[in-house]
Amino acid sequence: MVRKVTKAIFPVAGMGTRFLPATKSVPKEIMTLVDRPLVQYAIDEARAAGITEFIFVTSRGKSALEDYFDHNLVLEQDLKSKGKDELLEVLNATNMESGAIAYIRQHKALGLGHAVWCARRLIGDEPFAVMLPDDVISADKPCLQQMVEAYEETGGNMVAAMEVPNEKTSSYGILDTGQNVGTVVRAKGMVEKPKPEDAPSNLAVIGRYILGPSVLYNLNQKKKGSGGEIQLTDAIAEDIGNGVPVFGYKFDGQRFDCGSKAGFLQATVSFALAREDLREDLNQYLHDIVSSDRAAQ
Ligand code: UTP
Repeated sequence: MVRKVTKAIFPVAGMGTRFLPATKSVPKEIMTLVDRPLVQYAIDEARAAGITEFIFVTSRGKSALEDYFDHNLVLEQDLKSKGKDELLEVLNATNMESGAIAYIRQHKALGLGHAVWCARRLIGDEPFAVMLPDDVISADKPCLQQMVEAYEETGGNMVAAMEVPNEKTSSYGILDTGQNVGTVVRAKGMVEKPKPEDAPSNLAVIGRYILGPSVLYNLNQKKKGSGGEIQLTDAIAEDIGNGVPVFGYKFDGQRFDCGSKAGFLQATVSFALAREDLREDLNQYLHDIVSSDRAAQ
């Protein structure tokens, strides 16, 4: 029987250089889509999938992230005394149970694989999820929940997968698949950031994983891969060679790359348009600027 996945690692120790100068003092994961920080979307998705232990791999300068999950008693008291019940509810939904969150430091940004490895002692000998908060996925059924349900049937390792244009393969881990049919695709191999001419397919790995402890053993070797970093993709690919299956899960939903400025802006517009309180005004504004832009051309 496949063991239940109750732990998730959130690697947030990267430097977020694409958002400088903001990320000089604001962690990327605290930046907001409308009024909710990126990390809140990831936490909500994890909870929906049955995760009860949340492990953040952080680094210097990320204290705002730790503060975000603290109860703010002064603010709560103030809202209560003023009868602002709706806001109080918004705030309460972000509170985490004591002891549910752990923070581990990655002392040097040696790569995503290394960040995950830093959490090994808190994982022990059980399967775990990895979630990258800058991949935001809008879906009727949250992506990790879809994956957990599929994983209960398959076991092994599972990565979220999405088809990308051929010219974009060098931005992703890419799956080498035999037949690419159906929602769950067994991988024959995985390559980190291949050039389009070297890519075995255009099925890219997105920031949601369900992995077995064997991946952590593989990471013990701390082998450097693409870009001189210790890559999670390489450690998962090694499992394939050792006979542990790896499945790509083609999730149902729209993924936004909020680690890039263009993706972040698209997500902001999309999430704002999904909000009843903002939709009408924003729609009108977008319509007006697109029309005046067209008229100017
Ligand atoms: P990115 O490749 O997006 O890097 O990392 P980054 O530092 O966050 O952003 P840029 O490219 O400089 O703008 C993907 C994920 O892996 C984590 C990041 O925090 C992000 O969630 N990561 C990356 C680590 O935790 N440690 C690392 O050493 C590298």
